[in-house]
Amino acid sequence: MSVDEAAASGASPKRSESELRVAIVGATGAVGEVLIEVLRERRFPATEILPLASGRSAGRMISIGGREVEVLEAKPEAFEGIDIVFFAATGSLSKTLAPEAVKRGAVVIDKSSTWRMHEDVPLVVPEINPEAIDLHRGIIACPNCTSIGVTMALAPVHGAATLKRVVVTTLQAASGAGRAGVEELDAQRSAAPGQAPEPRVFDAPLHDNVVPLCDALQPDGFTGEEHKLMQETRKILGEPELPVSVTCVRVPVAVGHSASLLVETERPITPEEAREALRVFPGVEVVDDRERASFPTPLDAAGGDAVLVGRVRRDLGSDGLWLWQVGDNLRKGAATNAVQIAETLLARGQLSAREGADGAEVVAHTR
Ligand SMILES: NC(=O)c1ccc[n+]([C@@H]2O[C@H](COP(=O)([O-])OP(=O)(O)OC[C@H]3O[C@@H](n4cnc5c(N)ncnc54)[C@H](OP(=O)(O)O)[C@@H]3O)[C@@H](O)[C@H]2O)c1
Repeated sequence: MSVDEAAASGASPKRSESELRVAIVGATGAVGEVLIEVLRERRFPATEILPLASGRSAGRMISIGGREVEVLEAKPEAFEGIDIVFFAATGSLSKTLAPEAVKRGAVVIDKSSTWRMHEDVPLVVPEINPEAIDLHRGIIACPNCTSIGVTMALAPVHGAATLKRVVVTTLQAASGAGRAGVEELDAQRSAAPGQAPEPRVFDAPLHDNVVPLCDALQPDGFTGEEHKLMQETRKILGEPELPVSVTCVRVPVAVGHSASLLVETERPITPEEAREALRVFPGVEVVDDRERASFPTPLDAAGGDAVLVGRVRRDLGSDGLWLWQVGDNLRKGAATNAVQIAETLLARGQLSAREGADGAEVVAHTR
């Protein structure tokens, strides 16, 4: 349905596509900064991009499309007249402010984990489940940066042979923890021997090290990040019972999350078949040249939008298949996926929330 058809059917977006006003909450952060770039790169049809952040950054000037624009404090009144609000700040801010934006008629695309598993909130990777957008009630969630890359590698295999079980180990970059994560790694790298500052963002020094803990441990021995990846993978693939087991590891890389995956399928699938299914899937690039030892690395993925997959091989002890996947956590893992959601909203004529939906209603459901 086009925007015009939506208007005729009563779903009535407030503005035409050529008059869209967009706000970014967290515009000064690692994801927010890339979001601004990606909106410009993809020529998203916004007449205005309003940068919002905390009181700490209010008044700062940032460059958007060659213009200096003042950062405002993210408050409910800032959403008046805004059509789409990207939230790339904190989970607690999304919880309180996203409903305020929806009440004022905006559609929210949220990068935090706050709304992802809410039953009335679609969790969307546009190449995999674009139709989920049609069910939105004002808020659409963008998955965790690891969930996006991992599900982009899993979806083609699932389509070809139906997943039965997945075991994942991630190797996650410092920027996955935002600006503070990158700054901590940089400070440790540049410190004189024995002078490195104590880790505050990560649970152990990250420079020259590998930290097998992303996020807080839960009573079951898995971390919050691991639970997110397990739950989100099931929701995005529409397979609520799929056994998914995860270990998340932080590595001293600036940008680019990697994952090693063992997948078992209902129908055994050959590496050649899997490579072909991956090759034709939009947004995935197969980099798997054994002769030249050419496989995806975070340096290859950083700065691009493709999810790179390689090392496709049969498991030696089962019918399973091993895959290696890498993606830029700030782009496809965050900003690009969020902008693609906005583009899909426009393409499907779903810019306005469904009738009867408002933020208060969504919040009430979470309690
Ligand atoms: N980094 C990733 O790879 C990644 C990937 C996927 C999803 N995410 C999610 O995206 C969100 C942003 O992550 P990030 O990595 O960009 O973090 P970040 O670099 O720490 O940036 C956080 C942003 O939020 C703003 N903010 C913090 N507290 C605020 C408040 N009380 N009111 C208004 N703005 C506030 C900050 O503004 P100030 O400048 O004023 O402090 C800053 O712009 C998080 O929910 C994160 O989980 C991150």
